Order: sequence, then C-alpha cells, then structure tokens
Amino acid sequence: MQEDILKVLFTEEDIQVLVRKLAKQVERDYKGRNPLMICILKGAVVFMTDFVRNIDDYVEMDFMDVSSYYGGTKSTGEVRIIKDVDTSVRDRDVILVEDIIDTGITLKSLMELFSHRGAKSVKVCSLFNKPSGRQEFVTADYVGATVPDEFIVGYGLDYDGRYRNLPYIGVLKPEVYAK
Ligand code: PRP
Ligand code: MN
Ligand code: MG
Repeated sequence: MQEDILKVLFTEEDIQVLVRKLAKQVERDYKGRNPLMICILKGAVVFMTDFVRNIDDYVEMDFMDVSSYYGGTKSTGEVRIIKDVDTSVRDRDVILVEDIIDTGITLKSLMELFSHRGAKSVKVCSLFNKPSGRQEFVTADYVGATVPDEFIVGYGLDYDGRYRNLPYIGVLKPEVYAK
C-alpha cells in the first residue's frame, strides 16, 4: 500500500498527540456526565477506539452507519440510515465521533436527527476538518487538525474501501484514483 502514498501528512505519533488532546478536552468538559459517544461508521472506527481509551471517566459507545444522498449537482442534505444506534438518546449528552468533516452534509443531518430525538445535547468531535470542502454550515466542537484540499487516506479514511488500516494519514497519489 505504501507505494500508493505520495506523502505522509500525520505520522502515528502525530495522530496520537491529536487524539490525546481531544480526549482530555472531552474528559474535562463531560466530567461525571456519562456521555454517549456515537461513532459514525466506517471512517471513524479507528479514531473512536483510540479516543475512548484516552478518556479516564465513564462513557458509553454506540455505532451508526449512514450514507449521503447526492441528488444531481445539488445535495439534498439528507442521509440514509444504514445502521441505527441501539441506545435511546433522549436526555443524553451525545458526542458524534467523526474522522473528517468535508461537505458537512453527513453531520448536518445527524445533528438535526439527534436533536429531534430529544438528546439533551449534541456535540461533534472530529479528528480532521477540511474547510475547503464545506457545503453546509457546520462546525465541530472538538477538532484535532485542519487538513488541506488533498485526497487523504489512512487511520480509518478510505479510497474505495481501501487504506483504512494504514496507521498514518497519507496523501494518495493522483494516479491511484485516476485509474
Ligand atoms: C466520510 C467520512 C465522513 C463523511 C464526511 O464517510 O468518514 O463520515 O464522509 O463527509 P461530508 O462532510 O462530505 O459528509 P463516507 O461517507 O465516505 O463513509 P465511510 O465513513 O464509510 O468511509
Ligand atoms: Mn464516514
Ligand atoms: Mg469513505
């Protein structure tokens, strides 16, 4: 896989620094509140497992899989639920855990969904933010790092389902997705 990578943006060590920073912020802000961490599959799964292990307090975990509708050139802003959470979010402090926010379409509809379901609060923790891609006005409450407008893979992020298992974040060689 290494030969498909143009350059490394974040090493394993760089990522762990970001993950620990986010975990300590959340640990401090949510002390004693037993937040419900909802991992947005599949990209956020690698981050989620490192993230929760850096929080020294009670938390719960659940998982959700969604897919965006991109109708024509204009997005409908709707997402289809592939797998829903099992836990009731009513009166819970929910933290949506994402690997990256790009257009913001996924997050916007999830924020609305969980508010509608009666969550006490809904906040977003995303390892990466790509502001250059934004179509919906959404911001994460906790962000690890801002990334440039490049095709990045690894640590959960995929191209066509591959590269999620790379332990670092790399920029994919353009010839790989031009194939
Ligand atoms: C990616 C990423 C985020 C979402 C961000 O997921 O993991 O969930 O896109 O993009 P957006 O801000 O434009 O909505 P993807 O839909 O590729 O599914 P995956 O996590 O299973 O790879
Ligand atoms: Mn995703
Ligand atoms: Mg993807």
